[in-house]
Amino acid sequence: MENRSQWGTRLGFLLAAMGSAIGLGNIWRFPYTAYENGGGAFFLPYLFALLTAGIPLLILEYTIGHKFRGSAPRSYRKISKGMEWIGWWQVVVSFVISTYYPVIIAWAIMYAYFSLGQQWGGDATGFFVGDYLQLGDPGSFGAMVPSVLLPLIAVWVVAFFFLGRGVKKGIEVANKIFIPTLAVIFLIIVIRAVTLDGAMQGLDAFFKPNWSAIADGKVWVAAYGQIFFSLSIAFAIMITYASYLPKKSDITNNAFITGFANSSFELLAGIGVFAALGFMAVQSGQDVSDVATGGVGLAFMVFPEIISQMPGAGFFGFLFFASLVLAGLSSLISISETYIAGIQEKFNVSRGKAVLFGGGLAAILSLAFATQNGLNLLDTVDHFINNYGVALAGLFEVVAIAWFAKSLKSFQNHANSVSDIPLGAWWRVCLGIITPAVLGWMMLQNLKTEVT
Ligand code: PFF
Ligand code: NA
Repeated sequence: MENRSQWGTRLGFLLAAMGSAIGLGNIWRFPYTAYENGGGAFFLPYLFALLTAGIPLLILEYTIGHKFRGSAPRSYRKISKGMEWIGWWQVVVSFVISTYYPVIIAWAIMYAYFSLGQQWGGDATGFFVGDYLQLGDPGSFGAMVPSVLLPLIAVWVVAFFFLGRGVKKGIEVANKIFIPTLAVIFLIIVIRAVTLDGAMQGLDAFFKPNWSAIADGKVWVAAYGQIFFSLSIAFAIMITYASYLPKKSDITNNAFITGFANSSFELLAGIGVFAALGFMAVQSGQDVSDVATGGVGLAFMVFPEIISQMPGAGFFGFLFFASLVLAGLSSLISISETYIAGIQEKFNVSRGKAVLFGGGLAAILSLAFATQNGLNLLDTVDHFINNYGVALAGLFEVVAIAWFAKSLKSFQNHANSVSDIPLGAWWRVCLGIITPAVLGWMMLQNLKTEVT
């Protein structure tokens, strides 16, 4: 096993981990989540979640990958034979995400092109669901939509290309191109956004603290949920990526760098998005609260309208959607690598075969989201993944490791043997007590809202 693939450089690993973390969650999920859950006051639970769960779990996953040098299923198996299934659970969650995530990237590719002439005209929402997606009745698949299918194929070709070339020549190279480019593009967009008319109204709305939100349990659940999703934790990704680290690698420091880079990007996105929403509110004589939203609606319905009203619309529109494409591609590569590594080790096949089989299956399933019912289906699958898949995967992970295998102490020693920043007892408290309590409570909350 000593010929296991490795990252070429420490920076290569860090860029790949950041590439996985920085994604649609930063750009379209964080700004509205923060705004809805206390605005400026949200930063308190958010920072608390980052420090008590986000970074500690990142350290745990880096340690597991580095120590056992295997995909998630194999690493869990080495902790205890009965725990391999936790690795597979996380891999399956990632696999399911990789069937619809590329479809959103495909939309963004088309919208980068549409931006050049603001092809959505005066009714961006109507254009998106009607002209572009040709949305049909829920429940019926309807016909394949060519303008989604073609860019979707392009997304998979790019992903297969880099995944097929392996860790150092493929994944690392992709992230070395994508992430610095993304950072430059994003800076340009944010600077443009904050210098627009009305930007200050938007930022006011975003940062205005609603302190009473702090007393609301839902706000804390939202903060932890954002941190988990945003850091790609409990998706088998960070274990897989860390399994390609050379023996002499810092763990703790790398986790802090990844965590803070992701949060900085998130904060920057919040500023950019709300500055743009402030601009739109002023242009249309509305309040920021009337136009604020997140997710698909923000990117494909509200942003096109903002872009149309901006000076230099074509250029900035193109950059905005290009940033979604770059952020999305690097995340897609990371999710796909979880099952590629898993298949390779379980069935003892070459990387090429694992890419063809695992990626091929995901690509075929992704076609369902390129039909006229794609958006409805996407909403449903995403809802279950977000509310149950991820929270459960995280809960299984910490409970199995901290309570059943009782491995935290030995992992702490392992991390400390290679890292600059030593871990203390606080790390075991975060993972053994705080995180399981929060995740357990989160599951109950999600179930409760489901039945009411
Ligand atoms: N961490 C990514 C983001 O914040 O957008 C999203 C993500 C990527 C989630 C990959 C899950 C995943 F497997
Ligand atoms: Na993120």
